[in-house]
Amino acid sequence: MATRNIVKLGDDILRKKSRPVEKFDDRLHTLLDDMRETMYKANGVGLAAVQVGVLKRVVVLDCTEDHTGYLELINPEIIEREGEQFEAEGCLSLPGEQGVTVRPMTVKVKAQDRNGQWCVYKGTELKARCFCHEIDHLDGVLFIDKVIDKENL
Ligand code: NI
Repeated sequence: MATRNIVKLGDDILRKKSRPVEKFDDRLHTLLDDMRETMYKANGVGLAAVQVGVLKRVVVLDCTEDHTGYLELINPEIIEREGEQFEAEGCLSLPGEQGVTVRPMTVKVKAQDRNGQWCVYKGTELKARCFCHEIDHLDGVLFIDKVIDKENL
């Protein structure tokens, strides 16, 4: 495993659409392992592959403080949204930036695991925000596109 460099705002790749994963091979597993290490090292709660320069529909996340909620989402899709929340969010690609966005309170996500098996995950509050934020990255969307109240922190 190795950490990879996190792409920062200003790099065009962040605005590109990521491609679906078709091969669930060692290359994907290495990418996932590296992304996990990179996310934890940066103290992030989520990371999309595009943020390490790879245009594949791959996300890792962990919204817990004790690193017990690690998840890998391959080709994720939001299949249900419920409610609304207004909270501040940030992004490892935009260090120091934070702003309030509107996100669903609860989402249900369908995704494949590292072996290609489809699973369904449910998230509320922070986890729902994280699912939405990371899946947006796969379509070149950043949280600053959705900010309703910008705070400079
Ligand atoms: Ni982000």
